[in-house]
Amino acid sequence: MRLLGINCSPRKVNSYGVLKLMMDSIEDPRIDKKIISLGDYSLEHCKGCCACLFREPYECIQTTDGLGTIQEEFLAADGFIFSMPVYIMTVPGILKTFIDRCTNWSHVYPFAGKYGTIVATLAAPASVAGSTIDYMRSWLRLLGIVVSGELAIFTRGGYGGPMDTAIGDIPGVKTEAAVLAAQLSSDMIERPTFFPDAADLATFRTLRQKAEAIGGHDREMWEKHGWLGKDHWSC
Ligand SMILES: Cc1cc2nc3c(=O)[nH]c(=O)nc-3n(C[C@H](O)[C@H](O)[C@H](O)COP(=O)(O)O)c2cc1C
Repeated sequence: MRLLGINCSPRKVNSYGVLKLMMDSIEDPRIDKKIISLGDYSLEHCKGCCACLFREPYECIQTTDGLGTIQEEFLAADGFIFSMPVYIMTVPGILKTFIDRCTNWSHVYPFAGKYGTIVATLAAPASVAGSTIDYMRSWLRLLGIVVSGELAIFTRGGYGGPMDTAIGDIPGVKTEAAVLAAQLSSDMIERPTFFPDAADLATFRTLRQKAEAIGGHDREMWEKHGWLGKDHWSC
């Protein structure tokens, strides 16, 4: 079973530090772990052509910047940790670029029933991370990833400041990271029954209507999974 940790910062400092703490705290031999950093790639922006939705083979037409390699890592994973800095009250551009480039994933639940954890690090108090976490929760819902846990970490230091090298020394961070990681590894192994809430059901219904009406990649995938007659992928 593969756990993929995604460092969604251009740097390898705070968000990477928490991710590493979480990954290192998981010692279950059934879980094989890998970290990737979006900053190791130079992803181009989405050009808005929608070929990935409507033109076979339903893939991004930009093929030389490593997107395919990252997507392969995702498709091979059974669980995910997304760790990111807050940039101007939301996700950093590097992550939003990746999300936009995966538009053909966002109507077809490619990771239905897999588990994921969201971590945000920021220079302001943790409550400011609300819009970032909300956005990520919505994206994970579109992918079919069930949120196992969430954590926002107030780094207390300024960007580039002294706290940069010591996120693990912030009181409580190591413990919180370990608790979150334990929850995720247990969810990955036990796969507890998922009960969709109203937002899950509404999103599924909207995407089902879209797949039926628009066709192309979306309809092909929905037919393949037998979801066109269902109320949610989980039931
Ligand atoms: C461009 C930019 C925008 C930022 N915007 C915010 C923000 O809106 N709120 C906040 O609390 N911190 C903000 N920060 C601080 C980072 O979120 C914080 O330092 C984070 O822990 C950096 O993570 P990293 O080391 O993984 O890159 C910003 C930093 C940068 C570089």
